[in-house]
Amino acid sequence: MASERTLAIIKPDAVVANNIGNILAIIEGKKFSIKKAEMLRLSKQKAEGFYAIHSDKPFFSNLTDFMSSGPIFVMVLDGKHAIQRWRETMGATNPAEAGPGTVRNLYGTSIERNATHGSDGPQTAAFEISYFFPGYKMAK
Ligand code: CMP
Repeated sequence: MASERTLAIIKPDAVVANNIGNILAIIEGKKFSIKKAEMLRLSKQKAEGFYAIHSDKPFFSNLTDFMSSGPIFVMVLDGKHAIQRWRETMGATNPAEAGPGTVRNLYGTSIERNATHGSDGPQTAAFEISYFFPGYKMAK
C-alpha cells in the first residue's frame, strides 16, 4: 500500500509535563515521517470545532476546556498504514487500558488527559489535517 497520512496531537497534559521529546522519540522510533508540526493553543471555539463529532457527549465540555487549557503540539505523520499504526502506538483511549510501552500507558493519566490524539480513519484524517493545515495535500 502507498503511504498515508494522519493527524497526531500531543495534548496539553503531555506538553506541560515536558513529554514532547519523549513522544517524538517514540514516533521516530516507529519510522513515521513527520511532515508538518506546529505548537499552538486552541481557543475553546476551535477545540469545539475539532471535536464537533463528540458535541452530544457528556464529556464534550470538559474535553474542550482541557484541550484549550494550554499549548498543544500538532503534527501530520506519514507512513504505511499510518492511521492504524499511530492508533496502536498510542494505545487504548483510556490509559488504564493501554498496553505496556504505548504512549498513553507511559504518559496519559486519565481518559481525558490521555497525552495524545490520532485520527480514527481516512475521512477523519482528511478533515483533521485540513483543520490545522488548510490546503495541505493528502496525496504525495
Ligand atoms: P481523543 O482520541 O482525543 O478523542 C476524543 C477524546 O475524548 C478522547 O481522546 C478522550 O480524551 C476523550 N474521551 C473519550 N471518552 C471519554 C470519557 N468517557 N470521559 C472523558 N473523556 C473522554
